[in-house]
Amino acid sequence: MNKNFYITTPIYYPSGKPHMGHAYSSIVADIFARFKRLEGYDVLFLTGTDEHGQKIQKEAEKNNKNPKEFCDELSEKFRSLTKILNLTNDDFIRTTEQRHYDAVKDIWNRLVKSGDIYLDKYSGWYSVSDEAFYDEDEVEKKEGKRIAKSSGSTVDWVEEESYFFKLSAWQDKLLDYYKKNKDFILPSSRKNEVISFVKKGLKDLSISRTSFTWGIQVPENSKHIIYVWLDALTNYISALNFPDTDGTKYKSFWPADVHIIGKDILRFHAIYWPAFLLAAKLPLPKRVFGHGWILSDEKKMSKSLGNILDPIEIINKYGIDQLRYYLIKEVSLGNDGSISMQNLKNCINNDLANNYGNLCQRVFSFIKKNCSNRIPRSNKLETKDIKMLDNLKDKIPDLIKLINKQNLNEYIKIVVSFSFDANKYFNDSEPWSLKKSDPNRMNTILYTSVEQIKNISILLNPIIPESTNKVLDVINLKKKDLLIENISNDSIFDHNQELKNLDILFKKIENDN
Ligand code: MSP
Repeated sequence: MNKNFYITTPIYYPSGKPHMGHAYSSIVADIFARFKRLEGYDVLFLTGTDEHGQKIQKEAEKNNKNPKEFCDELSEKFRSLTKILNLTNDDFIRTTEQRHYDAVKDIWNRLVKSGDIYLDKYSGWYSVSDEAFYDEDEVEKKEGKRIAKSSGSTVDWVEEESYFFKLSAWQDKLLDYYKKNKDFILPSSRKNEVISFVKKGLKDLSISRTSFTWGIQVPENSKHIIYVWLDALTNYISALNFPDTDGTKYKSFWPADVHIIGKDILRFHAIYWPAFLLAAKLPLPKRVFGHGWILSDEKKMSKSLGNILDPIEIINKYGIDQLRYYLIKEVSLGNDGSISMQNLKNCINNDLANNYGNLCQRVFSFIKKNCSNRIPRSNKLETKDIKMLDNLKDKIPDLIKLINKQNLNEYIKIVVSFSFDANKYFNDSEPWSLKKSDPNRMNTILYTSVEQIKNISILLNPIIPESTNKVLDVINLKKKDLLIENISNDSIFDHNQELKNLDILFKKIENDN
């Protein structure tokens, strides 16, 4: 079996500092990367910044900086966000790196060689903010301005010499690929959008611009700058040392298992990218997952609306695991979701503090007081012990399937229910009343509770890594043992070793905070 797994986030425009929307895409991708590692996969998780194009050039000019200097500063903010979000990305690519230039030029040459590029003139609408070309029927007039219907951003009329990519020639091949690969675009509502767009007929795509200079020049015609999306999408393979297609990195990890993106950039990933790859005679990614938007005050975040949520402020106030958990539990991954501070507090108090946190705290402090702080050995398990443990164990194949379909919401719901059940089990079994009368039974209950805490902590680890690592450290679980296969494996317990101390995992949030 192929045990490699390659997952990517979109590469972000360093045109301003990162916001909650960027954090969301990255956290989601990180959770899948971590889960696959728990399953024993060799994972490559890529993120980075998309630094060329007119949007960046304009933003740099506004700030009186040259574009490279401007990108150096802002890209660094995205890089440091990866640490703040506790991401496990293996690489951080910048499109201003030499390795990326080499890959983009090679792709361009492949498209020329395959006869998919021709020189002509583009006249039509262009949105600098979206870095996208729009057809007449995709724009509308609003308050005297022309805007793109889908994004609401202003469009300008552009007329310039341009190289074109023969996108129209790939229409049938794309439809065929969607048909044969039912889960290429997820969720399925998104797939239907893409298919109907392609069926309406694809026009050839302008893939170079001449009205600015910040970008990668077309080989053999330096007047032209390669369209920023052709440039950006290539990051997914430039990070694998493409064009070295014989190299281990490319061979092990391409095609990618899943590109995690926001729904706003689906067209680029599900239509343009596969078409470029088909023309370049390269394999297509296995999946593109388009998540919904994080809304602030029910609206998409934007500088002009002034409703940008800063992830760093929230993390400083409530903690990183708290934010990660909340975003996954309360926002339905495929749909838009509004986030509110009140819901965040309720979620921290009810799910994290009262449920998982409370379970760990009470079981470990009971053991500390009553069992010389060591995990007791179990005696014969009773039906109710076995039932609780098996209930979780038997669900593992289903949980893996949910993750493989990016159904994080269902996954977390099930794992949280195990934690509720474990609290109830501990309560109902009343180990405190057995200390004198039946210490063997008490030990079995404690052992079963610790076993279940370990299992739940492994399953929650991709979502709340910092807190679950603390819990797993209490029972001295080694990093190398952090694997799904160690669920239901109690031989990793060292009954002779004292448990480490567990600090409060999640502080309850008072309402005025
Ligand atoms: N640079 C391009 C992507 C190139 S990928 C080859 C780009 N960058 S972006 O910075 O504008 O946004 C990237 C991604 O951030 C979006 O696709 C989406 O995944 C995420 N989000 C930005 N705003 C968002 C929300 N309000 N909510 C959720 N995610 C959003 O597009």
